[in-house]
Amino acid sequence: MSPAAGILAGGAVVITGAGSGIGQATARVCAREGAALVVGDLDAARAAETAQGIARAGGRAVPIAGDVADSATHAALAEACLAEFGTLSGWVNNAAFAGGSALVDTDDEAWQRVQAVTLGGTFQGCRRAIAAMPGGGAIVNIASGAGLGAEPGLSAYGAAKAGVIALTRSAAVEYAAQGVRVNCLAPGPIDTPGLAGWVDAFPGGRAGFEAQIPQRRLGRPEEMAETIAFLLSSRASYINGAVLVADGGIHARLASPRPDPS
Ligand SMILES: NC(=O)c1ccc[n+]([C@@H]2O[C@H](COP(=O)([O-])OP(=O)(O)OC[C@H]3O[C@@H](n4cnc5c(N)ncnc54)[C@H](O)[C@@H]3O)[C@@H](O)[C@H]2O)c1
Repeated sequence: MSPAAGILAGGAVVITGAGSGIGQATARVCAREGAALVVGDLDAARAAETAQGIARAGGRAVPIAGDVADSATHAALAEACLAEFGTLSGWVNNAAFAGGSALVDTDDEAWQRVQAVTLGGTFQGCRRAIAAMPGGGAIVNIASGAGLGAEPGLSAYGAAKAGVIALTRSAAVEYAAQGVRVNCLAPGPIDTPGLAGWVDAFPGGRAGFEAQIPQRRLGRPEEMAETIAFLLSSRASYINGAVLVADGGIHARLASPRPDPS
């Protein structure tokens, strides 16, 4: 299929944290589906690498380096999109980091950094995107299963991701009449560099971790990317304020004690 016939043909999409994992896969899928892209990342080299990969595959992508905790980064992302492509139809607030530690061991600085990047960055991205979409558009925020249920060591991250879910619903309700849809994806464990350390430290390593997932495997970044592209597209035209859980069945399972943890 040619990108001209893709579900995002003619659109221009900003993706934060596009230098790795889910963000990078999302950039590739959105380009395949016909969108021009602005790919943001804290790491300039990673953003450039993603953009170069898309250009080699025949797509259009502009890399922008910056920290999503800084509102100037969002201004630069929106300006680049409008200047390069003359439109801004989609925005994916994906950049985040988990920064896990027990609650009493989480100092003020660590707490504030997680909130500033994971929740603050999503707020800043929504504010900038909505202002740049007077005729409507679509935003996808990346939440997490950790925003729906508790995981020891993830109190700061889980609180921020729960905030992403609430922010998504508020933005959807406030701007639906403007034609802006705002949804969030809540991934379960996805096989990305961001998750590698977490899985490796698990008793039994990766195999032990995967044995406890109903689908018996980690999710793939491409699986999240396909879902994000769908939510950005007109195929999802009546989906607004939704929390789409993509976790191989983890959240559906009753968390009651069981003799066999699988
Ligand atoms: N991988 C998982 O299992 C999983 C599960 C649930 C939710 N998520 C969420 O999915 C999103 C992507 O996760 P991933 O696993 O692909 O991560 P990753 O670590 O592989 O990639 C994240 C990218 O974001 C960039 N980034 C980090 N902080 C940034 C900042 N302050 N400003 C700009 N860019 C920044 C990093 O440089 C990196 O390129 C995150 O929101 C994460 O919380 C991931």
